[in-house]
Amino acid sequence: MNSVQYSPNGLQGSPLAFGFWRLLDWQLSQAELASLVDQLLDWGITTLDHADIYGGYSIEAIFGQVMTPARRERMQLVTKFGICLETPARPDIRRHCYNSSYQHVMASVEQSLRNFNTDYLDLLLLHRPDPFMDADDCARAFIDLQQQGKVRYFGVSNHDVHQQQLLQSRLPFALQTNQLELSVLEHKHFLDGTLAYAQQQRQRPMAWSPLAGGAIFSPQHPSFARLQPVWQRLEQQYQASPLQLALAWLLAHPAGIVPVLGSGNRQRVQEALGSLTIQLDRQDWFDLYQAADGHDIP
Ligand SMILES: NC(=O)c1ccc[n+]([C@@H]2O[C@H](COP(=O)([O-])OP(=O)(O)OC[C@H]3O[C@@H](n4cnc5c(N)ncnc54)[C@H](OP(=O)(O)O)[C@@H]3O)[C@@H](O)[C@H]2O)c1
Repeated sequence: MNSVQYSPNGLQGSPLAFGFWRLLDWQLSQAELASLVDQLLDWGITTLDHADIYGGYSIEAIFGQVMTPARRERMQLVTKFGICLETPARPDIRRHCYNSSYQHVMASVEQSLRNFNTDYLDLLLLHRPDPFMDADDCARAFIDLQQQGKVRYFGVSNHDVHQQQLLQSRLPFALQTNQLELSVLEHKHFLDGTLAYAQQQRQRPMAWSPLAGGAIFSPQHPSFARLQPVWQRLEQQYQASPLQLALAWLLAHPAGIVPVLGSGNRQRVQEALGSLTIQLDRQDWFDLYQAADGHDIP
């Protein structure tokens, strides 16, 4: 699998990333987790997505138990900071809030590095826009972390254009990505300017929940019946499964979207690799867009 660049002269990552948000659901032993990580790396899925809060602040450290120097140098380690949850693991947090302050960014990264058993992160994302953000303060932390060699690249998640521009305006280097909810069932960012801005910046967005958390396959979803005939036609035309077509739909977009896979089922992850060779045509792309929306474009 050829690597892709997240921004000009920026992070080199894999065209499909993999996220560990659901890791606790998979109930893997340490050996099974190590085997999953090796399998992902062997398949070329080398960009591995985390957040400090996943699993109630537990998943980074579980992942860190299988970190070895050989694995570390094959992967791009991504994590997020900025959401503060009240959990037994964090008695210091009295209230669910967001925190993008210098002190919090620095402390959060130090903890993530300890959890992962590593001395650097490849990409650090501000998980959600902070309504109380002091952009100068947050940017100062990013600059210090890069100078200290603790974080190579930075980005945001779930940010609108203005929120991203504000942080970018305080930084001497380019933010690499905006990790957004994007899928056949989730269209808002295709038209709210976010993907337009990503293209303007030549910055690759990452798509979280690229299969809508599995809702694409749920007969209970309101779009399910409308999508069925389209999937069936495209399955024939492209000799591909709906899972592959749903990912190919994201990969086809000119912004250069990187889907973040979230399945704990290895057959499904292997199946996802087949999406990389599908060239979905514009009118087929709009067939899925329209069937999911339930109405024609204006
Ligand atoms: N930045 C953010 O705010 C944010 C928010 C959410 C997530 N994320 C990141 O995005 C990653 C991916 O998100 P996600 O897990 O929601 O991705 P997803 O791929 O949209 O959803 C994965 C879920 O879909 C299910 N699924 C897949 N194929 C299926 C099928 N054919 N039939 C039924 N169910 C199916 C999976 O079940 P199986 O495991 O059984 O296959 C799993 O529960 C996360 O791990 C995390 O790293 C980021």
